[in-house]
Amino acid sequence: MRSVAGAMSSLVKEHFPDGCTGVEVGVWEGSTSAGLLNRLPQLKLIMVDHWKKHPSIKGQFWSQEKMDNCFEKALNATDFAKDRRKIMRMDSLEAAVKLEGEVFGFVFIDATHTPQALSKDLEAWGSKISVGGLFFCDDIGGSIDRKYGCKMQRLFFAYAKENGFEEPQWLAYNVWWTLRVK
Ligand SMILES: C[S@@+](CC[C@H](N)C(=O)[O-])C[C@H]1O[C@@H](n2cnc3c(N)ncnc32)[C@H](O)[C@@H]1O
Repeated sequence: MRSVAGAMSSLVKEHFPDGCTGVEVGVWEGSTSAGLLNRLPQLKLIMVDHWKKHPSIKGQFWSQEKMDNCFEKALNATDFAKDRRKIMRMDSLEAAVKLEGEVFGFVFIDATHTPQALSKDLEAWGSKISVGGLFFCDDIGGSIDRKYGCKMQRLFFAYAKENGFEEPQWLAYNVWWTLRVK
Protein backbone atom coordinates (compact mmCIF):
# COMPACT_ATOMS: atom_id res chain seq x y z
CA MET A 1 0.00 0.00 0.00
CA ARG A 2 1.21 3.53 -0.77
CA SER A 3 2.27 5.75 2.11
CA VAL A 4 -0.13 8.41 3.34
CA ALA A 5 2.27 11.11 2.09
CA GLY A 6 2.46 9.40 -1.31
CA ALA A 7 -1.30 9.14 -1.68
CA MET A 8 -1.86 12.71 -0.44
CA SER A 9 0.85 14.07 -2.76
CA SER A 10 -0.77 12.53 -5.84
CA LEU A 11 -4.07 14.24 -5.07
CA VAL A 12 -2.46 17.56 -4.19
CA LYS A 13 -0.44 17.45 -7.42
CA GLU A 14 -3.59 16.73 -9.44
CA HIS A 15 -5.55 19.60 -7.86
CA PHE A 16 -2.69 22.11 -7.50
CA PRO A 17 -0.21 21.46 -10.33
CA ASP A 18 1.43 24.86 -9.68
CA GLY A 19 1.76 24.29 -5.95
CA CYS A 20 -0.14 25.53 -2.92
CA THR A 21 0.15 26.09 0.81
CA GLY A 22 -1.05 23.20 2.96
CA VAL A 23 -1.34 22.52 6.69
CA GLU A 24 -0.59 19.39 8.68
CA VAL A 25 -2.21 19.49 12.12
CA GLY A 26 -0.40 16.93 14.29
CA VAL A 27 3.12 16.34 12.99
CA TRP A 28 4.80 13.95 15.47
CA GLU A 29 8.27 13.15 14.05
CA GLY A 30 7.55 14.81 10.73
CA SER A 31 7.56 11.80 8.44
CA THR A 32 4.41 12.83 6.58
CA SER A 33 5.56 16.47 6.45
CA ALA A 34 8.89 15.36 5.00
CA GLY A 35 7.18 13.02 2.52
CA LEU A 36 4.94 15.83 1.27
CA LEU A 37 7.72 18.43 1.04
CA ASN A 38 9.91 15.93 -0.75
CA ARG A 39 7.32 14.85 -3.32
CA LEU A 40 5.88 18.33 -3.91
CA PRO A 41 8.75 20.76 -4.62
CA GLN A 42 6.39 23.73 -4.90
CA LEU A 43 4.54 23.02 -1.66
CA LYS A 44 4.65 25.41 1.27
CA LEU A 45 3.70 23.53 4.42
CA ILE A 46 2.52 24.80 7.78
CA MET A 47 3.35 22.22 10.46
CA VAL A 48 1.19 22.56 13.58
CA ASP A 49 1.90 20.55 16.75
CA HIS A 50 2.21 21.47 20.40
CA TRP A 51 4.76 18.70 21.01
CA LYS A 52 3.55 18.57 24.62
CA LYS A 53 3.47 15.59 26.99
CA HIS A 54 0.17 13.73 26.75
CA PRO A 55 -1.44 10.33 27.24
CA SER A 56 -1.46 8.53 23.91
CA ILE A 57 -4.62 7.12 22.39
CA LYS A 58 -3.19 3.61 22.72
CA GLY A 59 -2.59 3.83 26.49
CA GLN A 60 1.08 4.92 26.58
CA PHE A 61 2.18 8.19 28.15
CA TRP A 62 4.39 10.48 26.07
CA SER A 63 6.71 12.45 28.37
CA GLN A 64 7.90 15.97 27.63
CA GLU A 65 11.35 14.54 26.91
CA LYS A 66 9.83 12.21 24.32
CA MET A 67 7.87 15.06 22.72
CA ASP A 68 10.92 17.35 22.64
CA ASN A 69 12.71 14.53 20.88
CA CYS A 70 9.84 14.21 18.37
CA PHE A 71 10.09 17.95 17.73
CA GLU A 72 13.84 17.66 17.04
CA LYS A 73 13.18 14.76 14.66
CA ALA A 74 10.49 16.76 12.85
CA LEU A 75 12.92 19.65 12.44
CA ASN A 76 15.68 17.39 11.15
CA ALA A 77 13.35 15.51 8.80
CA THR A 78 12.21 18.73 7.12
CA ASP A 79 15.40 20.81 7.29
CA PHE A 80 15.96 20.12 3.58
CA ALA A 81 12.89 22.31 2.92
CA LYS A 82 13.48 24.95 5.61
CA ASP A 83 12.43 27.76 3.31
CA ARG A 84 9.10 26.05 2.47
CA ARG A 85 8.00 25.04 5.97
CA LYS A 86 6.48 27.09 8.75
CA ILE A 87 6.47 25.46 12.17
CA MET A 88 3.79 26.45 14.67
CA ARG A 89 4.55 24.81 17.99
CA MET A 90 1.25 25.40 19.71
CA ASP A 91 -2.23 23.96 20.18
CA SER A 92 -4.22 23.30 17.03
CA LEU A 93 -7.00 25.73 17.92
CA GLU A 94 -4.54 28.45 18.88
CA ALA A 95 -2.79 28.06 15.51
CA ALA A 96 -6.13 28.24 13.70
CA VAL A 97 -6.87 31.56 15.41
CA LYS A 98 -3.41 32.91 14.50
CA LEU A 99 -4.07 32.03 10.85
CA GLU A 100 -7.42 33.80 10.80
CA GLY A 101 -8.35 35.04 7.32
CA GLU A 102 -5.93 32.72 5.50
CA VAL A 103 -7.04 29.95 3.13
CA PHE A 104 -5.14 26.84 2.14
CA GLY A 105 -5.03 24.28 -0.65
CA PHE A 106 -5.30 21.48 1.87
CA VAL A 107 -5.48 20.71 5.55
CA PHE A 108 -4.62 17.32 7.07
CA ILE A 109 -6.05 16.75 10.57
CA ASP A 110 -4.07 14.15 12.51
CA ALA A 111 -3.97 15.48 16.09
CA THR A 112 -6.08 14.32 19.05
CA HIS A 113 -8.10 11.31 17.96
CA THR A 114 -11.29 11.80 19.95
CA PRO A 115 -14.69 12.89 18.67
CA GLN A 116 -14.64 15.99 20.92
CA ALA A 117 -11.25 17.16 19.64
CA LEU A 118 -12.02 16.27 16.04
CA SER A 119 -15.25 18.22 16.13
CA LYS A 120 -13.34 21.35 17.22
CA ASP A 121 -10.59 20.77 14.66
CA LEU A 122 -13.10 20.35 11.83
CA GLU A 123 -14.76 23.64 12.73
CA ALA A 124 -11.47 25.46 13.22
CA TRP A 125 -9.74 24.26 10.05
CA GLY A 126 -12.45 23.31 7.53
CA SER A 127 -13.39 26.92 6.80
CA LYS A 128 -9.74 27.68 5.90
CA ILE A 129 -9.81 25.35 2.88
CA SER A 130 -10.22 27.11 -0.47
CA VAL A 131 -12.96 26.12 -2.91
CA GLY A 132 -11.23 23.39 -4.95
CA GLY A 133 -9.11 22.53 -1.90
CA LEU A 134 -8.74 19.23 -0.08
CA PHE A 135 -9.56 18.21 3.49
CA PHE A 136 -7.73 15.11 4.77
CA CYS A 137 -8.50 13.48 8.08
CA ASP A 138 -6.87 10.54 9.86
CA ASP A 139 -8.52 7.83 11.97
CA ILE A 140 -11.81 7.87 10.15
CA GLY A 141 -13.47 4.54 10.91
CA GLY A 142 -10.16 3.09 12.14
CA SER A 143 -9.48 1.05 15.27
CA ILE A 144 -9.64 4.03 17.63
CA ASP A 145 -12.74 5.39 15.95
CA ARG A 146 -14.46 2.02 16.27
CA LYS A 147 -14.14 2.38 20.06
CA TYR A 148 -16.27 5.50 19.68
CA GLY A 149 -18.81 3.70 17.50
CA CYS A 150 -17.29 5.42 14.43
CA LYS A 151 -18.39 8.80 15.69
CA MET A 152 -15.37 10.47 14.05
CA GLN A 153 -16.39 9.05 10.69
CA ARG A 154 -19.91 10.40 11.16
CA LEU A 155 -18.56 13.80 12.21
CA PHE A 156 -16.33 14.05 9.13
CA PHE A 157 -19.13 13.05 6.76
CA ALA A 158 -21.60 15.43 8.43
CA TYR A 159 -19.09 18.30 8.37
CA ALA A 160 -18.45 17.71 4.67
CA LYS A 161 -22.15 17.59 3.80
CA GLU A 162 -23.00 20.75 5.70
CA ASN A 163 -20.05 22.84 4.56
CA GLY A 164 -19.78 22.54 0.77
CA PHE A 165 -17.56 19.47 0.50
CA GLU A 166 -18.12 16.33 -1.55
CA GLU A 167 -18.88 13.03 0.17
CA PRO A 168 -15.55 11.88 1.74
CA GLN A 169 -13.60 9.05 0.13
CA TRP A 170 -11.07 6.64 1.54
CA LEU A 171 -7.44 7.49 0.70
CA ALA A 172 -5.03 5.12 2.50
CA TYR A 173 -4.81 3.41 5.90
CA ASN A 174 -7.37 5.31 8.05
CA VAL A 175 -7.07 8.56 6.12
CA TRP A 176 -10.08 9.89 4.22
CA TRP A 177 -10.40 13.00 2.11
CA THR A 178 -12.92 15.32 0.57
CA LEU A 179 -12.95 18.18 -1.96
CA ARG A 180 -14.46 21.60 -1.27
CA VAL A 181 -16.87 22.36 -4.12
CA LYS A 182 -18.58 25.52 -2.77
C1 LIG B 1 -0.75 10.80 15.35
S1 LIG B 1 0.48 11.99 15.65
C2 LIG B 1 0.70 12.78 14.09
C3 LIG B 1 1.35 11.89 13.06
C4 LIG B 1 1.78 12.63 11.80
N1 LIG B 1 0.66 13.31 11.18
C5 LIG B 1 2.39 11.66 10.81
O1 LIG B 1 1.73 11.35 9.80
O2 LIG B 1 3.51 11.21 11.03
C6 LIG B 1 -0.42 13.16 16.57
C7 LIG B 1 0.34 14.45 16.91
O3 LIG B 1 -0.64 15.43 17.21
C8 LIG B 1 -0.17 16.27 18.22
N2 LIG B 1 -1.34 16.87 18.85
C9 LIG B 1 -2.33 16.22 19.49
N3 LIG B 1 -3.26 17.09 19.90
C10 LIG B 1 -2.85 18.31 19.50
C11 LIG B 1 -3.40 19.62 19.65
N4 LIG B 1 -4.57 19.82 20.26
N5 LIG B 1 -2.70 20.65 19.14
C12 LIG B 1 -1.52 20.45 18.51
N6 LIG B 1 -0.95 19.24 18.34
C13 LIG B 1 -1.62 18.18 18.83
C14 LIG B 1 0.65 15.39 19.12
O4 LIG B 1 1.63 16.15 19.82
C15 LIG B 1 1.26 14.39 18.13
O5 LIG B 1 2.57 14.76 17.76
